[in-house]
Amino acid sequence: MRKPIIAGNWKMFKTRDEALQFVYNINMKLPSKSLVESVICAQAPILRDLVKRQGDNLRVGAQNMHYLDSGAYTGEVSVLLLEDIGVEYVVIGHSERRAYYNETDSSVNKKVHQAFRYGLTPILCVGESLEIRETEKTNEFIKVQVVNALKGLGTEQIKELVLAYEPIWAIGTGKTATAEMANDTIKAIREVVRDLFDEETAESVRIQYGGSVKPANIEELLSMSDIDGALVGGASLDPASFLELVNAAVK
Ligand code: PGA
Repeated sequence: MRKPIIAGNWKMFKTRDEALQFVYNINMKLPSKSLVESVICAQAPILRDLVKRQGDNLRVGAQNMHYLDSGAYTGEVSVLLLEDIGVEYVVIGHSERRAYYNETDSSVNKKVHQAFRYGLTPILCVGESLEIRETEKTNEFIKVQVVNALKGLGTEQIKELVLAYEPIWAIGTGKTATAEMANDTIKAIREVVRDLFDEETAESVRIQYGGSVKPANIEELLSMSDIDGALVGGASLDPASFLELVNAAVK
């Protein structure tokens, strides 16, 4: 059985006060981490404060990091620092980073290795554009992303990893992939993992769906055979909505 994981991706939202208020609000209300993993991925400067105040059932993640330990890379964040302050997850290869900050399959792969080197769990994002979806090249395209991102990893790492399938055209647009569409692509991703590794690894790896997930559609998405959770932007900003999403994963 794969444990569901709901991760909020706050992107470039929330002041310190707003972030702490959110955490105080949900800490006592979150379901047990033995039933669902609840993660908040926030901007780097607030991560230490969130780790200090996270309740037993909340985990904290970063939204990006560099693939090297240290160096002359102005503005970048090192995994050493993330690990040092108690951050446990890191989003890698989000489509916004691929589109605006030149994130490539190769840098994504290096970052995944770097995260594992320091014991962080990568939430590795893949997803196609509308053009690719409309020309029916989705599975082909995603296969390349997955194969490149997972290069050099072992089965134990794959079992720890979280994959997030996020069709770009569904992010922040209010357009969700239908549950069937999301499940079909996630199945195809699991196939790629099966081809690269083995049956057991493919059945163990957790694959989230992301893209306009909200309380109104989460239950249907999570009822599908291969969807193991959600990576949620907009609907993770409000504490009541985040709690609804997490609770839906317990049922
Ligand atoms: P959204 O964002 O839920 O606002 O569509 C999802 C994401 O980018 O991770």
